Amino acid sequence: QRLQYKPGPLQGKKVLVTAGPTYEPIDPVRFIGNHSSGKMGIALAEALQERGALVTLVLGPVASGTGNKQIEVINVVTAQQMYEACMSRFAETDLAIMAAAVADFSPETTATEKIKKKDEGLQLTLAKTKDILKSIGQVKRNNQVVVGFALETNNEQEHALQKLQSKNADMIVLNSLADKDAGFKVDTNKVTIFTKGGQRIAFDAKPKKEVANDIIDTITSLHYA
Ligand code: CTP
Ligand code: CA
Repeated sequence: QRLQYKPGPLQGKKVLVTAGPTYEPIDPVRFIGNHSSGKMGIALAEALQERGALVTLVLGPVASGTGNKQIEVINVVTAQQMYEACMSRFAETDLAIMAAAVADFSPETTATEKIKKKDEGLQLTLAKTKDILKSIGQVKRNNQVVVGFALETNNEQEHALQKLQSKNADMIVLNSLADKDAGFKVDTNKVTIFTKGGQRIAFDAKPKKEVANDIIDTITSLHYA
């Protein structure tokens, strides 16, 4: 039987979640992407819906999405499409959780025909994509809660705290890639949450579904208690 939450503080709240990678096209058959499975963001979207929130999931290209029909899914491919989907929804959002692994760079131009191989190799010019989390942080109202993620390979705490500041987020969830039970392509994750109020809350490695509940419990206790 499905776990049922009693009507709680997230009942009827409008929540926007991003998940998955983005694919940035090089030509009609090739792209720049990353290893994100989207599982953490999808687990968050499902757990939020099960608590009665009205969830919109902006989902990049992933192998398996959600079976939860109550979740509104907006499928996108590129960082620009994800940006536009989020910006058009954010004004009416109570809580935004940006769990997507958005490409930071995208080919400046997309070839209309398949690029042929040449002897001298190939140089691509990449342009910076829009930072979705930062953009919503800039227009965030006082009654809106914004949560970001951070993935670091070095100086992780310092970088997570910098992201909390620079993106004007209420909370940053740091993914520890250093741990073998965390990160891409696995079903477990180990996170530490940094809050605007200066708290640092470390969790053990656990299944992504349970990590989702830890994150939601933390958001609820700080913002919807
Ligand atoms: N993010 C975003 N839009 C982007 C890039 C990142 O919304 N174009 C969000 C991610 O969804 C995540 C947070 O910003 O919630 C941090 O992403 P991360 O890749 O760790 O940080 P960046 O700011 O992109 O910096 P860098 O990759 O250089 O560490
Ligand atoms: Ca990045």
